[in-house]
Amino acid sequence: MTPLLTQFDASLKSLPVDTIGEARPEELDAIVALHLRAFPDTFITPLGKPMVQLYYQALMSYSGVCFIVYRNEAGGIVSFAVGVQSPSQFHHHLVLKYGCRAALTAVRCRPAALWSVMCRLSRRLLAPKNGDYGVYVDAECASFAVDPLMRDPSIAAFLTAALIRALQSRGVANILSGVRVDNPRLLRFARLFGYREVCREMRPDGHEMQILIWSKNEEKVI
Ligand SMILES: CC(C)(COP(=O)(O)OP(=O)(O)OC[C@H]1O[C@@H](n2cnc3c(N)ncnc32)[C@H](O)[C@@H]1OP(=O)(O)O)[C@@H](O)C(=O)NCCC(=O)NCCS
Repeated sequence: MTPLLTQFDASLKSLPVDTIGEARPEELDAIVALHLRAFPDTFITPLGKPMVQLYYQALMSYSGVCFIVYRNEAGGIVSFAVGVQSPSQFHHHLVLKYGCRAALTAVRCRPAALWSVMCRLSRRLLAPKNGDYGVYVDAECASFAVDPLMRDPSIAAFLTAALIRALQSRGVANILSGVRVDNPRLLRFARLFGYREVCREMRPDGHEMQILIWSKNEEKVI
């Protein structure tokens, strides 16, 4: 078994009720604010706050989402981890339902960044990658952050364990995650949870991503 994941299986049960749970629609603003603090100038942030808002709205309204949040005692959002089942289906949902609004919103903020996002999305739509990594990827980690103002040891680990287990309970066997190659700390963290590195991909924004996969079948043999 993966040691860190197993360790957190037990710890998850000891958390106060409501600390970890599915995000509620009224928590959208707090999630967006946390995103902007955690990703001040990367990921989709350069496209502006309205675009970030649309992205999380799209995630929350997707039927195959597993949107886990960690709340403090006052009910404030300290961290979130989002997994989407059938990633290529989510990208269709994102483009078809929010594409026009997102494009109009983003083009006002930064046309050059919009172009790179459109390239990325169309690449995904045209070539769904579910089977491209040697195993069938049935879920993807779409976003993951701990509030830099309230960082506390182990919150990231609680959320990672909770997301893996929540996706697993929905029948997911293989979870894909992309981590920037210049983030060795997060790469090490992912490995501790049983993610294995499969390949590297260049993002249109010029950042190289390490693609990792967590597999249920491998957990049994570790
Ligand atoms: C990535 C992110 C979510 C990690 O959260 P964090 O609060 O910094 O993480 P933590 O400190 O709890 O855990 C990471 C470290 O603790 C270690 N760790 C945590 N729990 C552990 C445990 N029980 N046993 C051993 N090691 C543990 C990790 O290996 C890592 O080690 P290091 O700091 O000694 O190198 C956070 O930094 C963040 O929000 N970053 C900005 C957004 C981002 O990059 N998101 C990810 C996109 S893919």
